Amino acid sequence: MKVEFGSAPVAEELIRECLHRSASYDLEGFLLGQGAIPAQIMFVGEAPGATEIVEGRPFTGQAGKVLEEYLKKIGLTRQDIYISSAVRSRPFKDKVVAGTAPGKEPRISRSNRTPTKNEVLAHAPILDAEIELVQPRVIVPMGNIGLHRLIGSHETISSLHGKVLEGPIQRLEEVSDPHSRYVFGDRSYSIFPLYHPAAVIYNRSLEAVIEQDLAALKQFLDLKNNS
Ligand code: URA
Repeated sequence: MKVEFGSAPVAEELIRECLHRSASYDLEGFLLGQGAIPAQIMFVGEAPGATEIVEGRPFTGQAGKVLEEYLKKIGLTRQDIYISSAVRSRPFKDKVVAGTAPGKEPRISRSNRTPTKNEVLAHAPILDAEIELVQPRVIVPMGNIGLHRLIGSHETISSLHGKVLEGPIQRLEEVSDPHSRYVFGDRSYSIFPLYHPAAVIYNRSLEAVIEQDLAALKQFLDLKNNS
């Protein structure tokens, strides 16, 4: 089978539709996920940040460095997997910062923020299309945003990290209906939730947990590949 590397060829019309659906939210820029197509394993994060929007490539900021450590520990590279996220634009928050010296004008400081449920819903058809095109057998949601997008919000990453769930995932029922909600698809996936790489940056005490989860993920993938 020929494996391509890049962004899944999501229809431009679908992207336009999602950008239209999210036009009233504080989101900037747009980039698709990236990686091998097809890929056995797909990682699903939260949303790109400022660095990713500038670079045009997912996980290129600080969290990206941690993600590359994750991949090293399971013996994979970006070329082996596909990486995407629940939202494909940067959610931002602006704050007015007072001038630091007399006569200095206040300025606007823009920071990354967690996407809202409505933003995730607005971009849902893009992730659905990427999953359809990449055809992963294993999906690794990283953090609660990715996890909830895929399986609903009845459980949290702190209870499911490092465990394998077998089952269907959510997709948007009807793209053209602005009130459409998620439904579970027919296909079953192995879902292996992990803490988001940014969580490790803010909470170093998670390092040991992540280490164990990555060892469990590696063992799971090795078993799957040998069965
Ligand atoms: N966090 C994500 O979830 N995705 C990125 O691309 C970068 C940071």
